[in-house]
Amino acid sequence: MSHNVIIIGGGAAGLMCAIEAGKRGRSVLVIEHNLQLGRKILISGGGRCNFTNLAAPPASFLSDNPHFCKSALARYTPKDFIKLVEKHGIAYHEKTLGQLFCDESSREILTMLEAECKEANVEIRLNCKVESITKTNSFNVKTSQGEFASESLVIATGGLSIPKMGATNFGYRIAEQFGLKVNPPRPALVPLVWSEADRKHFTDLAGVSLPVVARVGKVAFKENMLFTHRGVSGPAILQISSYWNEGDTVEIDLLPKVDLEKFFKEHRSSKMELSTILCYHLPKRFVQTWSPLFAPSKPMNQMSEKALREIGERLHHWRIKPIGTEGFEKAEVTAAGVDTTELSSKTMEAKNVAGLYFIGEVVDVTGWLGGYNFQWAWSSGWATGRQC
Ligand code: FDA
Repeated sequence: MSHNVIIIGGGAAGLMCAIEAGKRGRSVLVIEHNLQLGRKILISGGGRCNFTNLAAPPASFLSDNPHFCKSALARYTPKDFIKLVEKHGIAYHEKTLGQLFCDESSREILTMLEAECKEANVEIRLNCKVESITKTNSFNVKTSQGEFASESLVIATGGLSIPKMGATNFGYRIAEQFGLKVNPPRPALVPLVWSEADRKHFTDLAGVSLPVVARVGKVAFKENMLFTHRGVSGPAILQISSYWNEGDTVEIDLLPKVDLEKFFKEHRSSKMELSTILCYHLPKRFVQTWSPLFAPSKPMNQMSEKALREIGERLHHWRIKPIGTEGFEKAEVTAAGVDTTELSSKTMEAKNVAGLYFIGEVVDVTGWLGGYNFQWAWSSGWATGRQC
């Protein structure tokens, strides 16, 4: 059977692309190997889908080529997606930092995309396994449900994160089959793991959360950090994990809002223990574990200025050395992927393979936490949908 466009992967990017191509009158087939479309949409944002971010500047995306995402993001913006959401009467709210979530459920976003696909006459095949792809004049896609041919082939199979939701390396394999370079994918927006020695010290802190600034090199995020049984997580850590490489130290400012010099001066003549006054600003459980290791407690009036200065330094610059990440099982996204030098930034078409497109997470463009990754899926899907 022949179509103008075959899209492999019925997630955020694939569905957006299908809608736009269908609206242009192209006959579109979406091939999805799961029994259901958009499983990641359904679980996203804790079930409420953080579907975009009010400000999604290119600087919020990691890529070997930071300029690549600019064109697509400028042509299909958060405002465009919000318009679509409003057209479907989906109630939403800004949670924090420009992050837009559904009031009710992620299901509404998927239902909206399915309705738009229906209106654009998009054909969808679920539970359909691709066995091989070849290219002669057209693309020939051999599947568990028969053979299909198309002028354009769009790869929208996402990254490697959460294999149990159907994530595969399919997109990277197809890129390599057609001679495109792939930058080795790595887990991003992912919890970091303690070394054995650190785990012994900090495992009891599991569940403790505190506002920090987490920094790797020149990149820093001011958000919450959460201790887990195996390491650290929470938005500040997830964000910084995308910039973290093996061997890197993460610097944590445990009291970003506190002028410690002033604070210690105010309590300088107190008979209270240092650990007691630290609890004014830090969770008690945290102080009970951290203080004996990095800030041995004495009554404040017995602490030297030098000792307090050093403790202040440690509180603002606590250096932790994770040994790794929780991997693709726990990563919200996959960083790196199909090298952007291989693709047109306007259409996502492979420069050397006419009619072959890569969109969404499979491409080496990775957003921060906060709706940016969906915005990339919508924008790149839209750009290809207008062209393929
Ligand atoms: P996506 O993974 O959505 O879709 C790929 C599709 O291809 C899937 O349906 C998959 O089954 C299918 N597929 C894979 N291999 C195939 C094959 N061989 N044959 C056929 N089909 C195949 N982002 C955000 O902006 N806000 C948020 O709130 C969240 N929340 C969130 C929570 C969790 C737990 C995760 C894991 C991720 C998020 N994300 C997020 C990230 C976001 O989900 C992700 O970046 C987008 O879904 C990427 O869209 P894609 O369409 O590129 O891939």
